[in-house]
Amino acid sequence: SAMIWKDESYDKGAFDHYMRKEIADQPEALRRTLSGRLEPRFQTTHLGGITLTARELLDVRRIRILGCGAAYIAGALGAHLIEQLARIPCQAEAASEFRYRNPVIEMDTLYIAVSQSGETFDTLAAVQEVKRKGGRVMGIVNVVGSTIARECGQGIYLHAGPEIAVVSTKTFTCSVVAMALLAVHLGRLRDLSNANGARLLRALDALPDRVAAILEREDEIARLAEFFQGAEHAFYVGRSAGYAIAMEGALKLKEISYLHAEAYPASELKHGPLALVTPETPTVIVLPRDDLLAKNVSTIEEVKARGGPVIAITHPGETHAPFDRSFEVPALEPELDPLLLNIPLQLLAYHVARQRGCDIDKPRNLAKSVTVE
Ligand code: AGP
Repeated sequence: SAMIWKDESYDKGAFDHYMRKEIADQPEALRRTLSGRLEPRFQTTHLGGITLTARELLDVRRIRILGCGAAYIAGALGAHLIEQLARIPCQAEAASEFRYRNPVIEMDTLYIAVSQSGETFDTLAAVQEVKRKGGRVMGIVNVVGSTIARECGQGIYLHAGPEIAVVSTKTFTCSVVAMALLAVHLGRLRDLSNANGARLLRALDALPDRVAAILEREDEIARLAEFFQGAEHAFYVGRSAGYAIAMEGALKLKEISYLHAEAYPASELKHGPLALVTPETPTVIVLPRDDLLAKNVSTIEEVKARGGPVIAITHPGETHAPFDRSFEVPALEPELDPLLLNIPLQLLAYHVARQRGCDIDKPRNLAKSVTVE
């Protein structure tokens, strides 16, 4: 598509792959997404691309986030943030499903389309369906002036810079942060306190450096990747926002390493998929230190009891869980910790694919931007 950056206008420099460069780009990309948008004076965020007035935003009773693939998964995480911080019921749905199910468009619902390229056909069709029925929609888009951005007419640009690798990394992270900015904004129009607003602004401001600190530990993650040797199947599990991260981790591994990775809510394992757990099937558990920690620890015990190897992506501190290996990310604030736990999963997928000799930047059967039906 005409809106995609040309490879030659952007060099992968010292990096072996665009994917690795784009993972490494994340602190800078995040700084651009955040730039000019934190408003400490009112403990809120400033979003100049949104044309709805404060009054109109206050009248929003429900939010539905639409996107495909990783953009849909980013929406699932964004939905958690919005519902938690603004207390507005919010759900993400695959745009590719939404557009075909004759959806009911409600006047007090706000629709949000998430897209890196701004050219994904299914997402564009979902936006057009909302507009055709008189609904309101805003875009969370990376490519400035792209079709979806123009069709929405308002929203938040990521300013993440070009993303060439077929798999999304920095734009996933920046989309979630754009939705965190929106969540704080909507929250501060409602019941989110000054103190909580200020706490979240500080955390958002600290995020780029926290991501940079994780990236410095790439060697540790490359060693974790050896854990997948001999495996053909893997489970990625988590609860709540951790489940969205598990979905993203599994999608990345599938796309570039061709391993069969299945994301499951940790709570649902015992309702079926546990039958597939064997010593040859590793499970990656996303383990934030939240109120579901004890529940997640019992999931780890269930998997270990069936001989399944477990890697935990977690925070430092004693958990008394019998996982085999772990990668610990210092906690920042509970709302943003799941996003930090995704960074090691990007590098894990990268190193598993590398060890298997896969074509990382251009995986088989996939295109960067799916502009056809
Ligand atoms: C991400 O790793 C994928 N390549 C894919 O799922 C992608 O996120 C999806 O096709 C949506 O693309 P978009 O963000 O450009 O709309």
